[in-house]
Amino acid sequence: MSNAHLLAVAPQSAPEIHGEFARALIEGLSATPKTLPCKYFYDAEGSALFDRICALPEYYPTRTELGLLARHGAEIARLLGEEVALIEFGAGSLTKVGLLLDALAHPRAYVPIDISGDYLGAMAARLRAQRPALSVLPVVADFTKPLALPLLPEDVRRIGFFPGSTIGNMDGAEALAFLRKAAAMLKGGGLLIGVDLVKDPAILHAAYNDAARVTEAFNKNLLARANRELGAEFDLDAFAHYAFYNPHARRIEMHLMSLVPQRVRVAGHEIAFAQGETIHTEVSHKYTVEDFRALAQQAGFTPRQTWCDADKLFSIHWLEC
Ligand code: AVJ
Repeated sequence: MSNAHLLAVAPQSAPEIHGEFARALIEGLSATPKTLPCKYFYDAEGSALFDRICALPEYYPTRTELGLLARHGAEIARLLGEEVALIEFGAGSLTKVGLLLDALAHPRAYVPIDISGDYLGAMAARLRAQRPALSVLPVVADFTKPLALPLLPEDVRRIGFFPGSTIGNMDGAEALAFLRKAAAMLKGGGLLIGVDLVKDPAILHAAYNDAARVTEAFNKNLLARANRELGAEFDLDAFAHYAFYNPHARRIEMHLMSLVPQRVRVAGHEIAFAQGETIHTEVSHKYTVEDFRALAQQAGFTPRQTWCDADKLFSIHWLEC
């Protein structure tokens, strides 16, 4: 094959794909304090690291939520209703939605919404192969922004599914705004949402500082990704993974801390770091059951059932609207 073909295609597609990440990186690293949006964790490497986090002994949320879905599946299905359209915010794990789809009576459609078209396409293909009778209608979009749902029959009840405590990545105002929009979109149906709970800080600390250091690799993948995709020159050993629970704000904060004073070239810019300066990479808010129900009510939902495990680690809420 001739190289002319490659030369003609590559310069058009590559900057398109990486432009948004480059812009976000320069903007976040030029701000005081430095920040990066956590959605950039999830390239192929980062998604694989996140899957490994979910299987860690210290990371209780995934297995606890799966346990709740398995244990209360029949009751959840009865409350959600028959022949519903299930709309998932962020197409996460086939295992989780599989448990729910198995429990539901004749679900009419599954509508996963995700920013990664590649991931969505692969997931939709696998699901269609497993469940030929289900209509799978993926939407490539950022679910925190306004979006159009595929046309669904008028009589179909719309049920939102937002597992994993992904809502924890939003601050209080963002979570309220998201829930308000979800309530409008799901009117006449409801939202099934997984929410991580306030608990002993030692348990929280361990979950974000695992012994195998997978969470460290996940956090540092932001810098590794910048090196891979943008030719940035981050020395991963010159930054520390720093995650801690802030009890006043009720959230885990994850940072990358510069261990030395340094200047790093990033996409044509030079970024200066003081020793001890951090890039704030993620928040993970924790709620009490009462606080979360109050927030949902404020957003226009009627909170119904809440399910928790015996150790009160994690909660799933059924909210009607
Ligand atoms: C997928 C956003 C819910 O906050 O617990 C795991 C991501 N970050 N370990 C979380 C995450 C570090 C996770 N969420």
